[in-house]
Amino acid sequence: MKGRVAFVTGAAQGIGRACALALAEAGARLVLADVNQEKLDGVANEVAGCGSEALAVPMNVADAAQVEAAFRKAYERFEKVEILVNNAGITRDQLLVRMKREDWDAVLGVNLTGAYLCTQQALHGMMKQRYGRMVNIASVVARMGNAGQANYIASKAGLIGLTKAVAQEVASRNITVNAVAPGFIATAMTEKLNEQARERLLQRVPLGRMGTDRDVAVAVRFLASEEAGYITGHVLDVNGGMYMS
Ligand code: NAI
Repeated sequence: MKGRVAFVTGAAQGIGRACALALAEAGARLVLADVNQEKLDGVANEVAGCGSEALAVPMNVADAAQVEAAFRKAYERFEKVEILVNNAGITRDQLLVRMKREDWDAVLGVNLTGAYLCTQQALHGMMKQRYGRMVNIASVVARMGNAGQANYIASKAGLIGLTKAVAQEVASRNITVNAVAPGFIATAMTEKLNEQARERLLQRVPLGRMGTDRDVAVAVRFLASEEAGYITGHVLDVNGGMYMS
């Protein structure tokens, strides 16, 4: 992976930050994209601490013009993007009967449309290069369902569909497209859960602990590696056994 250029969305914290650092440790140069510029700069410093280079670009994945501008900056700086990690994601949980249209649109806009926009931008270069590794961060709930998350689950199940469709479209160009489906991972996203919900979820994890952002990042790094070149259209579960497909 030495010298390869990786573009990671939602890289300011949590799983995105862990993916960026894991890729940097393997020698990749990083484009870090997130709406949170302050934290993004901190991660860029951490990447430098791993002995690699990073470009931090403030960007809302749901905004086509911002995505285009961010990829332009990435090409100006590094001339190529070889790895894309579509990680940026949000939740707006509510039972469907009470779900507001704006919460449906917001979640689909970031989690699914955002991945479509970034994938399209990254593909232009990857198809010319005849090399690419894309990894989409889905979720265990896209496999098993969960009450109160219809918007989120629709977006993540859509992301798995996007993964398989694009994998077939670009395989002949030596580009692989895979997904990682994390389970219950300790990040800011799951901090919002109350103690009761946390306990209930943990009881469903055979390995008996929450996952770490690093558990997810090493799986992403594997799928982004050259050695994973014969794996495409796959969904890799990183869930402590919570759901076995
Ligand atoms: P997090 O909330 O800690 O980090 C998400 C990052 O995405 C933040 O830095 C945020 O600023 C950024 N972001 C949000 N909206 C954005 C936008 N419109 N444009 C650009 N950046 C944006 O969450 P976490 O846990 O690290 O989640 C990362 C991914 O992993 C998400 O896609 C999430 O759905 C997925 N995931 C997380 C699980 C968990 O248990 N934490 C389980 C399964 C999937």
